[in-house]
Amino acid sequence: MTNQTHLHELIDKLHIEQELSKEEWTSLISGRTPELSEYLFTLARKVRSRHYGTDIYIRGLIEFTNYCRNDCFYCGIRKSNVHAHRYRLSEKDILACCRTGYLLGFRTFVLQGGEDGYYTDVRMIHLIRRIKELYPDCALTLSIGEKSYETYQRFFEAGADRYLLRHETADFAHYKRLHPASLSAEIRQECLWNLKEIGYQTGTGFMVGSPFQTAEHLAEDMLFIKKLNPHMAGIGPFIPHRDTAFAAETAGTLELTLFMLGLLRLMLPKILLPATTALGTIAENGRELGILAGANVVMPNLSPVSVRKDYSLYDNKICTGEEAAECRESLEKRMEAIGFHIVTGRGDYKF
Ligand code: 5AD
Repeated sequence: MTNQTHLHELIDKLHIEQELSKEEWTSLISGRTPELSEYLFTLARKVRSRHYGTDIYIRGLIEFTNYCRNDCFYCGIRKSNVHAHRYRLSEKDILACCRTGYLLGFRTFVLQGGEDGYYTDVRMIHLIRRIKELYPDCALTLSIGEKSYETYQRFFEAGADRYLLRHETADFAHYKRLHPASLSAEIRQECLWNLKEIGYQTGTGFMVGSPFQTAEHLAEDMLFIKKLNPHMAGIGPFIPHRDTAFAAETAGTLELTLFMLGLLRLMLPKILLPATTALGTIAENGRELGILAGANVVMPNLSPVSVRKDYSLYDNKICTGEEAAECRESLEKRMEAIGFHIVTGRGDYKF
């Protein structure tokens, strides 16, 4: 049997929801060809359409603070980046973003930010309650990093529905090469298990092509995600940021990111899978290609245009000059052009 036949068989195995070993994942990822990718994407589209048809879910992303106590080596808003222009939106600003978003048809708001000490539990709980009071028909997603079990529990009780926390890389040694000693893969993963246990629709994810990453690391990411069985997974290419130690590293590729999206769709057929902004940044039609590889979610920006360029995790981020309505409209057009339709609704995981 040729190697390519073997890899096709591995994809068929995934398609019938059988588990792959680490060695199988590694050979699939490192042995991929354009032809194998096409085969994968065709199956991934079939599986996605079985559960979601041609629906694309939208999430209104509100990047409400770029203050962060962490110092992740790859991230443009890391604490030690003195060139980052720091901002934080007030509760009033955030509610104004929600209002704009609601009128544009968003029924999920994602509050994303650095780990900012100003936003204490008390302030967050006030904000969560207020948003859920004003928009009871909307889902609220938090993406504000690592917190204690109790804090996650309180946010959930206040009304938060979902939580995004990428595991970044499942390999402990690789994690150490991307983060300062104060952070660990172990605690990160523990947070994810806690979020699931509390009852959040939970999202994890990783960067594709981050420095030092190998096919084995990606294999471990797939195994970790299979075990966690999250409701969502956010993956996008690593893109260097000029003010970080990784400024001169090469970005992750479109091709590998698409391949990983396809694999995720086959491995977890119902998963909510965004075509991320980072994917749209490395290629003009990156998000469309992400959808065609199996993704089913897009997350346009609702943050005020005045702060957009400051939420700079990586260089050349797209949509930093567009109003929310323009963002929404242009995405709608892009999705329609490839035969997909943005729906107004919470876009919950199909249990
Ligand atoms: N390139 C791509 N993605 C990045 N993130 C942070 N920095 C970068 C970068 N330089 C991702 C991380 C984080 C998410 C909010 O953004 O995976 O979890």
